[in-house]
Amino acid sequence: MWRGARARVAAALGLAALLLWAWGAAPPRSSDRQAPVAGRDLPLIFIGGVPRSGTTLMRAMLDAHPDVRCGQETRVVPRILQMREHWARSQKESVRLEQAGVSRAVLNNAIAAFCLEVIVRHGDPAPRLCNKDPLVLKMGTYVLELFPNAKFLFMVRDGRATVHSIITRKVTITGFDLTSYRQCLTKWNHAVELMYQQCKTMGSDKCLMVRYESLVLWPRETMRQVLDFLELPWDEAVLHHEQYINQPNGVALSNVERSSDQVVRAVNRDALDKWVGALPADVRADMPQLAPMLSVLGYNPWDNPPSYHAHSPPPALDT
Ligand code: A3P
Repeated sequence: MWRGARARVAAALGLAALLLWAWGAAPPRSSDRQAPVAGRDLPLIFIGGVPRSGTTLMRAMLDAHPDVRCGQETRVVPRILQMREHWARSQKESVRLEQAGVSRAVLNNAIAAFCLEVIVRHGDPAPRLCNKDPLVLKMGTYVLELFPNAKFLFMVRDGRATVHSIITRKVTITGFDLTSYRQCLTKWNHAVELMYQQCKTMGSDKCLMVRYESLVLWPRETMRQVLDFLELPWDEAVLHHEQYINQPNGVALSNVERSSDQVVRAVNRDALDKWVGALPADVRADMPQLAPMLSVLGYNPWDNPPSYHAHSPPPALDT
C-alpha cells in the first residue's frame, strides 16, 4: 500500500534540502548570528503528559496515519531542554553565557538544531514529524519559542489510574517513590499541574488536552478532534494502529519501552478502572487534598469506582 508514499518522499526531499542547507552551508556572517536556523518553522507535533497516561497509545495511533511519524521516545530531547532550563534558572550562569556571546538567540538556535536533528533522523521521513517524550510538555512554552508552528497534545488520565500503573508496573520515574501511593499522587499532582499551566499558557490553538478515558471509550470521535486540531486529513488507519506495528512507515516500537507490549493490541478498555480497590483507605480519604488536580481536570476525587462514561465524547466534527 502507498499510504501517502509520494507525499512522504516529497516531504523527505524538502526536509533533506532544508537540513543540508542548515548544516552544510558556510558559517553564518556575524550579522546573521541571530537568524533562526532552518527547520524551526516546521509544524512539529509534540505529545506530552505524565508517563502512564496513554502517551504511547496516542503516538501509535498517529504513527498509523500515512502523513505522520512520531516514533519511539528519543530520551535526549527532554534532557537537553532540562539542561537549558538549569542554565536559564541560574542568574550567574546566564550572565556568563551572555558575556561569552552565547545569547538566548544563539542558544535557542543550537538547541533547536539538536532537537531537529534527533527528531528528523531517528525515524522515517514524513510530511508531519512528531515527538513523544512525555516530559517535554513541562517546558512546552519554551519549545514553542523554538518551534513557533508546533502543536501539543496533552494526554491526561485519572491520576489514581496513572499512579496505580506506575506502582504496579514498577515504572521508575525520577522523584516517584514506588512504595507509596500517597507520595506518587502528590508527585502526579505537581507534574500534571505544571503541564496544565504550560498548556493553558500556550493557548487552545497550540495545545489540546486529550483524556485517555475518551480515547479508549470513544476512539473515533476523539481522534477526529485530534486530527482536526492538528490540521490533518481524516484517515481510518488511526483506528487500527495495531495493523501497522513495525511495518514500513508504520508504528515503530522499541523493545525496551514499558508500554510496547500493551500498545501492540487494538484500542481496549482493560486498563480503565484496574486501580479501583487498590488504593489504601487513608489515601482515598485524603484524595481531594492529595490530588486537587483531579477535580480541575474533571475527575471526581470521591468517585470510586469512577464513572468515565459520564464524560461526554468530544463533539462530532464534519471531517
Ligand atoms: P496501564 O499500565 O494502566 O495498563 P504511557 O504510554 O503514557 O506510559 O501509558 C501507558 C498506559 O496506556 C498503560 O496503562 C496501557 O495499558 C495503556 N495502553 C497502551 N496501549 C493501549 C491500548 N492499545 N489500548 C488501551 N490502553 C492502552
